[in-house]
Amino acid sequence: MAIPLSIQWINNQLIILDQQKLPHETEYIALNTIEDVYDAIITMKVRGAPAIGITAAYGLALAAQKHDTETLEVFHHFVKKDAVYLASSRPTAVNLAWAIGRLQQVIQSAKTLAAAKAEILAEAKRIHQEDEEACRTIGGYALDLLEGRSRVMTICNAGSIATAKYGTALAPFHLGKELGREFEVFACETRPVFQGSRMTVWELQQSGVDVTLITDSMAAHTIGAKGVEAIIVGADRIAANGDTANKIGTFNLAILAAAYKIPFYVAAPASTFDLQIPNGKNIPIEERSAKEITHIAGQQVAPNGTKVYNPAFDVTPAQYITAIITEKGIIHPNYERNIPELFATVK
Ligand code: MRU
Repeated sequence: MAIPLSIQWINNQLIILDQQKLPHETEYIALNTIEDVYDAIITMKVRGAPAIGITAAYGLALAAQKHDTETLEVFHHFVKKDAVYLASSRPTAVNLAWAIGRLQQVIQSAKTLAAAKAEILAEAKRIHQEDEEACRTIGGYALDLLEGRSRVMTICNAGSIATAKYGTALAPFHLGKELGREFEVFACETRPVFQGSRMTVWELQQSGVDVTLITDSMAAHTIGAKGVEAIIVGADRIAANGDTANKIGTFNLAILAAAYKIPFYVAAPASTFDLQIPNGKNIPIEERSAKEITHIAGQQVAPNGTKVYNPAFDVTPAQYITAIITEKGIIHPNYERNIPELFATVK
Protein backbone atom coordinates (compact mmCIF):
# COMPACT_ATOMS: atom_id res chain seq x y z
CA MET A 1 0.00 0.00 0.00
CA ALA A 2 1.45 3.35 -0.99
CA ILE A 3 0.17 6.86 -1.61
CA PRO A 4 0.43 7.41 -5.38
CA LEU A 5 2.29 10.39 -6.85
CA SER A 6 1.45 12.26 -10.03
CA ILE A 7 4.52 14.43 -10.61
CA GLN A 8 8.17 13.51 -10.33
CA TRP A 9 11.37 15.27 -11.36
CA ILE A 10 13.82 12.45 -12.08
CA ASN A 11 17.24 12.87 -13.74
CA ASN A 12 16.30 16.31 -15.04
CA GLN A 13 13.11 14.96 -16.57
CA LEU A 14 9.50 15.79 -15.78
CA ILE A 15 7.54 12.57 -15.35
CA ILE A 16 3.79 12.57 -14.77
CA LEU A 17 1.15 9.95 -14.17
CA ASP A 18 -1.18 10.02 -17.19
CA GLN A 19 -4.47 10.49 -15.32
CA GLN A 20 -6.50 10.18 -18.53
CA LYS A 21 -5.67 6.47 -18.51
CA LEU A 22 -6.80 5.77 -14.92
CA PRO A 23 -8.02 3.41 -13.62
CA HIS A 24 -7.23 0.97 -16.45
CA GLU A 25 -3.55 1.81 -16.81
CA THR A 26 -0.99 3.31 -14.48
CA GLU A 27 1.25 4.89 -17.06
CA TYR A 28 3.97 7.44 -16.36
CA ILE A 29 4.99 9.67 -19.26
CA ALA A 30 7.80 12.19 -19.78
CA LEU A 31 6.95 15.79 -20.68
CA ASN A 32 9.94 17.17 -22.58
CA THR A 33 8.73 20.47 -23.99
CA ILE A 34 6.50 23.36 -23.00
CA GLU A 35 4.02 22.16 -25.64
CA ASP A 36 3.93 18.72 -23.96
CA VAL A 37 3.18 20.45 -20.66
CA TYR A 38 0.44 22.66 -22.15
CA ASP A 39 -1.16 19.62 -23.79
CA ALA A 40 -0.98 17.54 -20.59
CA ILE A 41 -2.77 20.29 -18.65
CA ILE A 42 -5.47 21.08 -21.21
CA THR A 43 -6.26 17.39 -21.85
CA MET A 44 -6.19 16.68 -18.10
CA LYS A 45 -3.41 14.13 -18.17
CA VAL A 46 -2.44 16.14 -15.11
CA ARG A 47 -5.19 17.93 -13.20
CA GLY A 48 -6.05 19.30 -9.79
CA ALA A 49 -5.16 22.87 -8.88
CA PRO A 50 -1.79 22.37 -7.09
CA ALA A 51 -0.66 19.69 -9.56
CA ILE A 52 -1.38 21.99 -12.49
CA GLY A 53 0.66 24.73 -10.81
CA ILE A 54 3.64 22.46 -10.14
CA THR A 55 3.58 21.00 -13.67
CA ALA A 56 3.34 24.45 -15.25
CA ALA A 57 6.29 25.60 -13.12
CA TYR A 58 8.43 22.73 -14.40
CA GLY A 59 7.16 23.46 -17.93
CA LEU A 60 8.30 27.07 -17.72
CA ALA A 61 11.65 25.95 -16.27
CA LEU A 62 12.10 23.34 -19.03
CA ALA A 63 11.49 25.94 -21.73
CA ALA A 64 13.77 28.44 -20.00
CA GLN A 65 16.72 26.00 -20.10
CA LYS A 66 16.44 25.99 -23.91
CA HIS A 67 16.40 29.77 -24.44
CA ASP A 68 19.97 30.66 -25.43
CA THR A 69 19.62 34.39 -25.80
CA GLU A 70 22.22 37.16 -26.10
CA THR A 71 20.90 39.20 -23.20
CA LEU A 72 18.93 38.70 -20.02
CA GLU A 73 16.35 41.15 -21.34
CA VAL A 74 15.56 38.93 -24.31
CA PHE A 75 15.50 35.91 -21.98
CA HIS A 76 12.89 37.67 -19.78
CA HIS A 77 10.85 38.42 -22.88
CA PHE A 78 10.80 34.73 -23.90
CA VAL A 79 9.93 33.58 -20.39
CA LYS A 80 7.05 36.06 -20.32
CA LYS A 81 5.75 34.72 -23.62
CA ASP A 82 5.97 31.13 -22.31
CA ALA A 83 4.18 32.17 -19.12
CA VAL A 84 1.25 33.69 -21.04
CA TYR A 85 1.02 30.53 -23.15
CA LEU A 86 0.95 28.17 -20.14
CA ALA A 87 -1.45 30.38 -18.18
CA SER A 88 -3.97 30.14 -21.03
CA SER A 89 -4.28 26.34 -20.65
CA ARG A 90 -6.92 26.26 -17.89
CA PRO A 91 -8.53 29.37 -16.38
CA THR A 92 -10.11 28.50 -13.01
CA ALA A 93 -7.35 27.13 -10.76
CA VAL A 94 -5.33 30.12 -9.62
CA ASN A 95 -2.38 27.91 -8.61
CA LEU A 96 -1.32 27.91 -12.25
CA ALA A 97 -0.88 31.69 -12.50
CA TRP A 98 0.52 31.78 -8.97
CA ALA A 99 3.29 29.24 -9.71
CA ILE A 100 4.22 30.88 -13.01
CA GLY A 101 4.27 34.28 -11.28
CA ARG A 102 6.68 32.96 -8.64
CA LEU A 103 9.10 31.76 -11.32
CA GLN A 104 8.96 35.04 -13.20
CA GLN A 105 9.63 36.88 -9.95
CA VAL A 106 12.67 34.79 -9.02
CA ILE A 107 14.55 35.51 -12.24
CA GLN A 108 14.24 39.28 -11.81
CA SER A 109 17.28 39.42 -9.53
CA ALA A 110 19.49 36.99 -11.53
CA LYS A 111 22.65 38.64 -12.88
CA THR A 112 23.51 36.10 -15.58
CA LEU A 113 21.64 33.84 -17.97
CA ALA A 114 23.09 30.76 -16.26
CA ALA A 115 21.95 32.03 -12.85
CA ALA A 116 18.45 32.79 -14.17
CA LYS A 117 18.15 29.30 -15.65
CA ALA A 118 19.36 27.67 -12.43
CA GLU A 119 17.06 29.81 -10.28
CA ILE A 120 13.94 29.15 -12.32
CA LEU A 121 14.40 25.37 -12.03
CA ALA A 122 15.27 25.59 -8.34
CA GLU A 123 12.08 27.59 -7.72
CA ALA A 124 9.96 24.99 -9.55
CA LYS A 125 11.46 22.30 -7.29
CA ARG A 126 10.75 24.46 -4.22
CA ILE A 127 7.09 24.89 -5.23
CA HIS A 128 6.86 21.09 -5.62
CA GLN A 129 8.45 20.42 -2.21
CA GLU A 130 6.47 23.12 -0.42
CA ASP A 131 3.19 21.73 -1.73
CA GLU A 132 3.91 18.32 -0.24
CA GLU A 133 4.66 19.92 3.12
CA ALA A 134 1.54 22.11 2.89
CA CYS A 135 -0.67 19.12 2.12
CA ARG A 136 0.72 17.12 5.02
CA THR A 137 0.05 20.02 7.36
CA ILE A 138 -3.48 20.42 5.96
CA GLY A 139 -4.05 16.70 6.62
CA GLY A 140 -3.07 17.15 10.25
CA TYR A 141 -5.44 20.08 10.75
CA ALA A 142 -8.23 18.20 8.98
CA LEU A 143 -7.72 15.21 11.28
CA ASP A 144 -8.22 17.54 14.26
CA LEU A 145 -11.44 18.95 12.79
CA LEU A 146 -12.74 15.48 11.96
CA GLU A 147 -12.14 14.18 15.49
CA GLY A 148 -15.03 11.84 16.36
CA ARG A 149 -16.31 11.72 12.76
CA SER A 150 -15.31 8.84 10.49
CA ARG A 151 -17.93 8.74 7.70
CA VAL A 152 -16.98 11.48 5.27
CA MET A 153 -18.11 12.42 1.76
CA THR A 154 -16.00 14.04 -0.95
CA ILE A 155 -16.27 14.98 -4.62
CA CYS A 156 -13.80 15.05 -7.51
CA ASN A 157 -10.19 14.20 -6.66
CA ALA A 158 -8.44 16.58 -4.31
CA GLY A 159 -5.96 13.87 -3.54
CA SER A 160 -2.30 13.01 -3.74
CA ILE A 161 -2.43 12.89 -7.53
CA ALA A 162 -3.95 16.39 -7.64
CA THR A 163 -1.03 17.77 -5.60
CA ALA A 164 2.63 16.98 -4.83
CA LYS A 165 1.56 14.31 -2.30
CA TYR A 166 -1.23 13.57 0.24
CA GLY A 167 -3.75 15.91 -1.41
CA THR A 168 -5.92 18.45 0.37
CA ALA A 169 -9.39 16.98 0.94
CA LEU A 170 -7.96 13.44 0.88
CA ALA A 171 -4.96 14.28 3.08
CA PRO A 172 -6.67 13.34 6.37
CA PHE A 173 -7.53 9.90 4.98
CA HIS A 174 -3.95 9.18 3.85
CA LEU A 175 -2.48 10.62 7.01
CA GLY A 176 -5.12 8.85 9.10
CA LYS A 177 -3.99 5.59 7.53
CA GLU A 178 -0.37 6.33 8.50
CA LEU A 179 -1.48 7.13 12.04
CA GLY A 180 -3.91 4.23 12.43
CA ARG A 181 -7.13 6.26 12.18
CA GLU A 182 -9.76 4.68 9.96
CA PHE A 183 -12.30 6.52 7.79
CA GLU A 184 -15.19 5.40 5.63
CA VAL A 185 -15.08 7.66 2.59
CA PHE A 186 -18.02 8.18 0.22
CA ALA A 187 -16.74 9.35 -3.17
CA CYS A 188 -19.12 11.05 -5.62
CA GLU A 189 -18.33 9.78 -9.12
CA THR A 190 -18.04 13.39 -10.41
CA ARG A 191 -19.67 13.55 -13.83
CA PRO A 192 -18.69 14.25 -16.52
CA VAL A 193 -14.95 13.48 -16.21
CA PHE A 194 -15.34 10.93 -13.39
CA GLN A 195 -12.47 12.16 -11.22
CA GLY A 196 -14.30 10.56 -8.26
CA SER A 197 -14.65 7.05 -9.68
CA ARG A 198 -11.53 6.97 -11.84
CA MET A 199 -9.15 8.78 -9.51
CA THR A 200 -10.35 9.14 -5.91
CA VAL A 201 -11.52 5.54 -5.62
CA TRP A 202 -8.31 4.30 -7.29
CA GLU A 203 -6.08 6.54 -5.14
CA LEU A 204 -7.72 5.60 -1.83
CA GLN A 205 -7.62 1.92 -2.75
CA GLN A 206 -3.87 2.31 -3.41
CA SER A 207 -3.33 3.51 0.14
CA GLY A 208 -5.79 1.09 1.73
CA VAL A 209 -8.51 3.59 2.73
CA ASP A 210 -12.10 2.28 2.89
CA VAL A 211 -13.93 3.98 0.01
CA THR A 212 -17.46 3.58 -1.39
CA LEU A 213 -18.45 4.96 -4.79
CA ILE A 214 -21.81 6.68 -5.38
CA THR A 215 -23.20 8.62 -8.34
CA ASP A 216 -23.50 12.37 -7.80
CA SER A 217 -27.28 12.18 -7.61
CA MET A 218 -27.10 9.73 -4.69
CA ALA A 219 -25.41 12.22 -2.36
CA ALA A 220 -28.54 13.51 -0.56
CA HIS A 221 -29.89 10.02 0.06
CA THR A 222 -26.52 8.59 1.08
CA ILE A 223 -25.82 11.24 3.72
CA GLY A 224 -28.99 10.18 5.53
CA ALA A 225 -28.89 6.45 4.78
CA LYS A 226 -25.22 5.94 5.69
CA GLY A 227 -24.92 8.55 8.41
CA VAL A 228 -22.29 10.69 6.69
CA GLU A 229 -20.87 13.00 9.38
CA ALA A 230 -18.92 15.57 7.35
CA ILE A 231 -18.13 16.66 3.80
CA ILE A 232 -14.64 17.72 2.73
CA VAL A 233 -13.68 19.11 -0.68
CA GLY A 234 -10.73 20.80 -2.37
CA ALA A 235 -10.67 24.16 -4.13
CA ASP A 236 -9.47 25.70 -7.36
CA ARG A 237 -9.71 29.33 -6.32
CA ILE A 238 -10.83 30.98 -3.08
CA ALA A 239 -11.82 34.65 -3.20
CA ALA A 240 -10.94 37.13 -0.45
CA ASN A 241 -14.39 36.67 1.14
CA GLY A 242 -14.14 32.84 1.19
CA ASP A 243 -16.35 32.10 -1.83
CA THR A 244 -14.82 28.92 -3.27
CA ALA A 245 -14.62 27.56 -6.81
CA ASN A 246 -14.27 23.80 -6.99
CA LYS A 247 -15.41 20.93 -9.19
CA ILE A 248 -18.97 21.19 -10.50
CA GLY A 249 -21.30 19.63 -7.94
CA THR A 250 -19.45 20.98 -4.91
CA PHE A 251 -22.09 23.66 -4.28
CA ASN A 252 -24.78 20.93 -4.28
CA LEU A 253 -22.90 19.14 -1.49
CA ALA A 254 -22.56 22.37 0.51
CA ILE A 255 -26.33 22.86 0.39
CA LEU A 256 -26.85 19.24 1.47
CA ALA A 257 -24.44 19.69 4.38
CA ALA A 258 -26.47 22.71 5.52
CA ALA A 259 -29.73 20.75 5.18
CA TYR A 260 -28.33 17.87 7.25
CA LYS A 261 -26.49 20.22 9.68
CA ILE A 262 -23.15 18.47 9.16
CA PRO A 263 -19.87 20.38 8.65
CA PHE A 264 -18.74 21.33 5.16
CA TYR A 265 -14.96 21.79 4.98
CA VAL A 266 -12.81 23.21 2.18
CA ALA A 267 -9.15 22.12 2.24
CA ALA A 268 -6.65 24.11 0.16
CA PRO A 269 -3.11 25.48 0.30
CA ALA A 270 -2.40 29.22 0.42
CA SER A 271 -1.55 29.06 -3.29
CA THR A 272 -5.27 28.52 -4.05
CA PHE A 273 -6.34 31.85 -2.54
CA ASP A 274 -6.82 34.82 -4.83
CA LEU A 275 -6.96 37.82 -2.54
CA GLN A 276 -7.07 40.14 -5.56
CA ILE A 277 -10.68 39.25 -6.14
CA PRO A 278 -13.30 40.26 -3.60
CA ASN A 279 -15.83 37.46 -4.18
CA GLY A 280 -16.77 34.42 -6.22
CA LYS A 281 -18.54 36.39 -8.96
CA ASN A 282 -15.12 37.31 -10.32
CA ILE A 283 -13.83 33.74 -10.63
CA PRO A 284 -13.55 32.61 -14.28
CA ILE A 285 -15.37 29.31 -14.76
CA GLU A 286 -13.95 26.98 -17.38
CA GLU A 287 -16.44 25.51 -19.84
CA ARG A 288 -15.32 22.29 -21.46
CA SER A 289 -16.35 20.45 -24.60
CA ALA A 290 -19.91 19.17 -25.09
CA LYS A 291 -18.51 15.74 -25.86
CA GLU A 292 -17.60 15.24 -22.19
CA ILE A 293 -21.35 15.07 -21.54
CA THR A 294 -22.77 13.61 -24.75
CA HIS A 295 -20.30 10.71 -24.70
CA ILE A 296 -19.13 8.29 -22.02
CA ALA A 297 -15.92 6.37 -22.79
CA GLY A 298 -16.42 7.09 -26.50
CA GLN A 299 -20.06 5.90 -26.47
CA GLN A 300 -22.69 8.50 -27.44
CA VAL A 301 -25.34 8.86 -24.71
CA ALA A 302 -27.37 11.82 -26.07
CA PRO A 303 -29.04 12.50 -29.42
CA ASN A 304 -26.98 14.02 -32.24
CA GLY A 305 -26.79 17.81 -32.01
CA THR A 306 -27.86 18.00 -28.35
CA LYS A 307 -27.40 21.49 -26.87
CA VAL A 308 -25.01 21.21 -23.91
CA TYR A 309 -23.84 23.43 -21.05
CA ASN A 310 -20.67 22.05 -19.45
CA PRO A 311 -19.20 24.28 -16.71
CA ALA A 312 -16.30 22.41 -15.07
CA PHE A 313 -16.57 24.27 -11.74
CA ASP A 314 -19.10 25.97 -9.49
CA VAL A 315 -18.73 28.54 -6.74
CA THR A 316 -19.85 27.73 -3.21
CA PRO A 317 -20.78 30.92 -1.34
CA ALA A 318 -18.70 31.39 1.81
CA GLN A 319 -21.77 31.23 4.07
CA TYR A 320 -22.03 27.47 3.43
CA ILE A 321 -18.45 26.73 4.45
CA THR A 322 -17.89 25.61 8.05
CA ALA A 323 -14.10 26.11 7.89
CA ILE A 324 -11.29 26.45 5.35
CA ILE A 325 -8.28 24.28 6.15
CA THR A 326 -4.91 25.65 5.00
CA GLU A 327 -1.29 24.96 5.90
CA LYS A 328 -1.24 28.35 7.64
CA GLY A 329 -4.05 27.26 9.94
CA ILE A 330 -7.80 26.68 10.03
CA ILE A 331 -9.90 29.66 8.97
CA HIS A 332 -13.35 30.04 10.51
CA PRO A 333 -16.05 32.57 9.57
CA ASN A 334 -16.06 35.60 9.40
CA TYR A 335 -13.95 34.93 6.27
CA GLU A 336 -14.00 38.48 4.99
CA ARG A 337 -12.09 39.45 8.13
CA ASN A 338 -10.22 36.22 8.93
CA ILE A 339 -8.74 35.37 5.50
CA PRO A 340 -6.82 38.64 5.01
CA GLU A 341 -5.84 38.57 8.69
CA LEU A 342 -4.31 35.07 8.46
CA PHE A 343 -2.38 35.99 5.31
CA ALA A 344 -1.11 39.17 6.95
CA THR A 345 0.06 37.45 10.14
CA VAL A 346 1.28 33.97 9.08
CA LYS A 347 4.06 33.94 6.47
O1 MRU B 1 -10.95 19.64 -13.43
P1 MRU B 1 -10.02 19.16 -12.37
O2 MRU B 1 -9.98 17.68 -12.24
O3 MRU B 1 -8.66 19.79 -12.49
O4 MRU B 1 -10.68 19.72 -11.03
C1 MRU B 1 -10.03 19.47 -9.81
C2 MRU B 1 -10.78 19.96 -8.62
O5 MRU B 1 -11.83 20.57 -8.72
C3 MRU B 1 -10.10 19.75 -7.30
O6 MRU B 1 -11.04 19.59 -6.28
C4 MRU B 1 -9.22 20.99 -6.98
O7 MRU B 1 -8.42 21.31 -8.06
C5 MRU B 1 -8.40 20.76 -5.78
S1 MRU B 1 -7.11 19.58 -6.04
C6 MRU B 1 -6.27 19.48 -4.57
